[in-house]
Amino acid sequence: MRLASFGAVCLIGAMTCALSGCAGDGTGLDTNGRPLDGNGGDGSDTLQPTFQSIQEQVFTPICTACHAGAAAPLGLRLEAGASYALLVNASSVEVPALMRVQPGNPDASYLIQKLEGTAAVGGRMPLNGTPLPQATIDVIRQWITDGATDGTAGVSSDSLSEVAKLTAVLPISGKAMSQSTRDIVVTSSVELDTSLLQAGLVTLRASGGDGEFDSGNEILVPVEVTVRSQLPTVLAITPRSMLAADTYELRIAGDGPVALADFQARAIDGDGNSTPGGDFVLRFTVETTR
Ligand code: HEC
Repeated sequence: MRLASFGAVCLIGAMTCALSGCAGDGTGLDTNGRPLDGNGGDGSDTLQPTFQSIQEQVFTPICTACHAGAAAPLGLRLEAGASYALLVNASSVEVPALMRVQPGNPDASYLIQKLEGTAAVGGRMPLNGTPLPQATIDVIRQWITDGATDGTAGVSSDSLSEVAKLTAVLPISGKAMSQSTRDIVVTSSVELDTSLLQAGLVTLRASGGDGEFDSGNEILVPVEVTVRSQLPTVLAITPRSMLAADTYELRIAGDGPVALADFQARAIDGDGNSTPGGDFVLRFTVETTR
């Protein structure tokens, strides 16, 4: 159901773009009335209500000073390649009832509240820095109103030959996961047929304290899998209970009767050998809470 409604939002967003032309219709262009990096005002660096533009001109230069890597506050990495999966349809840690970005609804998006200084918890972003000009925030609002897509829909005909590779956005492979972040977030390089998600396809096991996964004392941890976004395909895997300190193994099946696959029924390249098949395996540790 989540998936279906998100799909609808995407479609509306795409149609809005098609009708208005998106770039070039004057919406939110020229945020400060001057070029951001002083390259002559040729317009090439003007903030646009697109994910890529916001990434390049706001998240990367301003926010990643703090929101990057394994130590990103509240697990919110805002580096290119990670930010979309951790913002769109992702619950805020501070106010879990709100999504960080809720497509179509900037007022209910916690990201906007943090930027405008109206959030119920914590400081205004960028923390201890100069607040973003309202014109800049308005462009981000526009992107959310337009459906908060990542802008790649319908562009990638290459992906017809590309095999789906999965990447863990949280936790970062080999790094520890903090107990406060809860969700494990995985993205795919190619759109996946998420109707294939079913019991047994995604498993999370605790090692049972010995850090090994073949010693017979592993513990299966029940999880809930949510499709945060279809294009790009972002999966959030939420343990049904707080994870105790231990080593964990997440496995997404790329072989067998319940393998995850793309829309051409080609299994994911889970083991990274550039051919379909093989399980995607992510090992990480959870540290004791302070
Ligand atoms: C100087 C470090 C720093 C910078 C720069 C910074 N943040 Fe933050 N951010 C934090 C910290 C620390 C928290 C948690 C405490 C708080 O909210 O005050 C946080 C919390 C957040 C949250 C809440 C996340 C949640 O799940 O509840 C959002 C959204 C956010 N930041 C967005 C941004 C954006 C967007 C930028 C860039 C415009 C930015 N931050 C820049 C340090 C920073």
